[in-house]
Amino acid sequence: MAKILITSGPTRQYLDPVRYLTNASSGKMGSALAAAALEAGHHVVLVSGPVEIAYPDNVELHAVTSTEEMLEKCNQLFDACDGMIGVAAPCDYRPEKIAEQKIAKTGDPLQVKFLETQDIVATLGKKKGKRWVVGFALETEDPRLRALAKLEQKNCDLMVLNGVEAMDAEDNAVEIIEPSGKAIASFGGKKPLVARQIFRVIEDCLLAPLPTSQPATSPKN
Ligand code: C5P
Repeated sequence: MAKILITSGPTRQYLDPVRYLTNASSGKMGSALAAAALEAGHHVVLVSGPVEIAYPDNVELHAVTSTEEMLEKCNQLFDACDGMIGVAAPCDYRPEKIAEQKIAKTGDPLQVKFLETQDIVATLGKKKGKRWVVGFALETEDPRLRALAKLEQKNCDLMVLNGVEAMDAEDNAVEIIEPSGKAIASFGGKKPLVARQIFRVIEDCLLAPLPTSQPATSPKN
């Protein structure tokens, strides 16, 4: 049994007490992957941004709001895990300042400076050691090339490439890219089915048990 960290859902970056930046991620793919990992007998540590869906009962759920909180929680939890799957769509930008009070209209345009947030998968990828990291990439142009660039930048062991149609949908179509750049599998259909197929590839490539019955050195005939 492995202990698997999964990030899921969107994050929210507040501008003032009532307004925030977010995206359309629903958490459905993260939930489906969590269910697939549970089904296969693993322990799932799920760090999720705000979602409407219910996650499987048996996950160890940690609810967060912003990308900074998701990063902090993942940093705390990753040490005790064997690997992580980054399915979340964390906001890549945050307002430079969060106003303490609701920003009132003035009749003038509102200028907001956004700063880049830290990348969670890249941060964990950098310090992964013997652990494995699987990223997801959602690309609208040059998908394979960009997914491979992300795999390298974020030090991932596999990158799952999906299209923009995946956002807040019941279905998904994915390709799995390995570090050589080769697409080793592609699946399509309902997210629970696609998640089970992705998880089987993760198990085969990254979780396969070491052959304990084999001697350390092969006997010579
Ligand atoms: O946003 P991007 O396409 O770069 O996301 C690719 C991968 O990086 C996904 O696995 C996503 O969960 C992860 N990511 C992250 N932290 C961010 C942005 C993306 O972990 N701030």
